[in-house]
Order: sequence, then C-alpha cells, then structure tokens
Amino acid sequence: MELDTLRIDPDATGIARAAAMLRAGQLVAFPTETVYGLGADACQGEAVAGIYEAKGRPSFNPLIAHVADFTHAEEIGVFNAAARTLAEHFWPGPLTLVVPLRPGTRISALATAGLDSIALRVPSHPVAREILQAAGTPIVAPSANRSGRVSPTEADHVWADLNRRIDAIVEGWSTPVGVESTIVSCLGAEPSLLRPGGVTRAEIENVLGHALADALAETSIDAARPVAPGLLESHYAPRAAVRLNATEIMPGEAALLFGPEPPSGLDAAKAHLNLSYRGDLREAAANLFSMLRRLDISGVTRIAVMPIPIEGLGEAIGDRLKRAAAPRPSQRG
Ligand code: TXA
Ligand code: MG
Repeated sequence: MELDTLRIDPDATGIARAAAMLRAGQLVAFPTETVYGLGADACQGEAVAGIYEAKGRPSFNPLIAHVADFTHAEEIGVFNAAARTLAEHFWPGPLTLVVPLRPGTRISALATAGLDSIALRVPSHPVAREILQAAGTPIVAPSANRSGRVSPTEADHVWADLNRRIDAIVEGWSTPVGVESTIVSCLGAEPSLLRPGGVTRAEIENVLGHALADALAETSIDAARPVAPGLLESHYAPRAAVRLNATEIMPGEAALLFGPEPPSGLDAAKAHLNLSYRGDLREAAANLFSMLRRLDISGVTRIAVMPIPIEGLGEAIGDRLKRAAAPRPSQRG
C-alpha cells in the first residue's frame, strides 16, 4: 500500500466507515477488550488471505470469527447445551467457543483453515460491538501485529507494526484485558480448554459445575510435536496423499494447479482445479482449503500439487501443503 493507513475515530461516522470498508473486503484493525484485532470479512476469502499477507504470517491457522451477538453466532455455529451455557454467561466477553460449523454458511474455508468447526466470539468492547453490528457479517480478527511481535493493546502499536500494510485502524483507548480470549472447545462430550486467556479456568468451571477437560495435557503427550495451544487438533488433513512440486501429473491423480501453464499429463488426471489461473498468491490462498477438500472428496488417492512460488503468501501456502503432505499420525506407526 502506498498511502498511510487511515486512522478512524470511533464516532458514529467512523464506525459506519470502518464497517463499510470491511464489507468491501478491506483490512481494518479495531480495539476489542482483549487486544487490537486485524479484521476482515470472514466470508471473503481474499480478504482473509490479506490478513496473512499483512501480518507476514508464514502459516495458516484457523481464525476466530467475531460476531455482534449470540443470534449471529448461532447462524454460523451449532451450539450444544454446554456451549449455550458458556455463551450465556460469558458473552459478550473474552471467551471464544469452538463449535461445529453450521453447514451451508458462507464462511471462507481459509477462515477455518478447512475445518468443519469454527471459533466464535462476541467481544464486549463497545467499539468492536458497534463495528460488528454495522458490518452485519462475521469478522475474523487475529491480533493486529506483525507475525512474531507482541499483541497490540494500543492503536499506536498497531500503527507501528502495520502502517501501509492495512487499510485502516479504528482508534480506541487501551484494551482493558490485554491478553487474548480464552478458547474452549465444545466439540467433544465435555468442553475442553484450548488456550488460556481473559476468562479464567476457575470462572468457567464454576459455571459448568465441573472441571474442564484439558486438551493441552492430552495432546502434549506426543512429544514429537511442540505444544501449540489450540492448534494440535485444528488442521484439516486431506484423506488423499499429497505430492508436492509436481511438474507432471501421473494417471489417476487429482491435480491442484497454479498459474496458466498446464503440467504435462494433465489429460490423465482424474480431476483438476486451479488455485489461481493468473498466478495470484492471494487468490490461491483463498482457494487453498476449499480446493483441497473438493479434490479430496472426489475420491482420488493422491493429489499432485504444482510448484507454488515461496514469496509472500506462497510461504504460508507452502507450509500448509507441506503439512498436508506429511505422514499422518496413523501412518507413523
Ligand atoms: O482475544 C482474542 O481472541 C483476539 C482478539 C483480536 O479478539 N483474537 C485472536 O484471534 O486471538 P486468533 O484468530 O489469532 O485466534 C486463533 C486461534 C488459533 O490459533 C487456534 O488456536 C484457535 O483460535 N482456533 C480457531 N479456530 C479453531 C478451530 N476450529 N478449532 C480449534 N482451534 C481453533
Ligand atoms: Mg496473535
């Protein structure tokens, strides 16, 4: 971006402007009660890809979708009794609930990193709430910092990290909580803690009337993988094997293409999709998970992926593809 990032006051005009920019697919940072978030419309894949580009994040994680209230959350996610109880007690506030994704929503597959579940949160910060109400669409928002830097609690922190990389910053006072939201998964029989944060374990257990299952403890048994709160179980893995840097397609494979030049052997492919015919990495990122899934459900046993340049978003695309191509836990023995 050539121009300085726009700084927007959180008055009625500013809120309306920020919401319109988000609806137009732009990147807008705004205060929440935990930290400043870098927002994009969760239904626009290329806008979501822009978040990764701006943050310089080398891998794709599923993101938290922020909504104005429980009614909007229920349009996107399926709430069991425990999820409903937690939402009633802690929303609006610094608690994120991971629930099954409601089929047929317009949420981009990049927002959920291709998963069938979604992380949802209703923030309590008045500026965030007003923006979400005015935008009328779920907004994914990771912390508004460059990858590897600390989370921003003031608009000036966001500016220092992301000026000219994002479209706007909505001003607000310091974020009161200062750490990210607590993440609780409501996918299993019992809710489990995925990430400690702004709401304490004791507060949650008090409402549930029993202890939270500990997803961290269960998964960290696998010493081969680093403990990354909330991430261990949260990556879509295709059933088909994935072959990278394919310059030639073998008979019976499905092909995931990139750019205008078809690889040799494409005629023999069982199915093929192009991440970006024009070779645009943002478009490719937006298509990645949905196309992997579409090729996977076509029933092929192997997906051949053409080389993707590793610059810019290509690094995150390559990271995700490398994980998809790695041996599965069940194949490790
Ligand atoms: O306080 C916060 O939560 C801040 C402010 C801006 O709201 N947002 C934030 O968002 O921290 P984000 O997108 O960076 O959090 C993403 C984390 C992932 O790293 C993962 O741990 C978890 O949320 N997550 C998202 N979707 C998930 C899913 N379907 N299953 C499991 N974990 C998920
Ligand atoms: Mg962060």
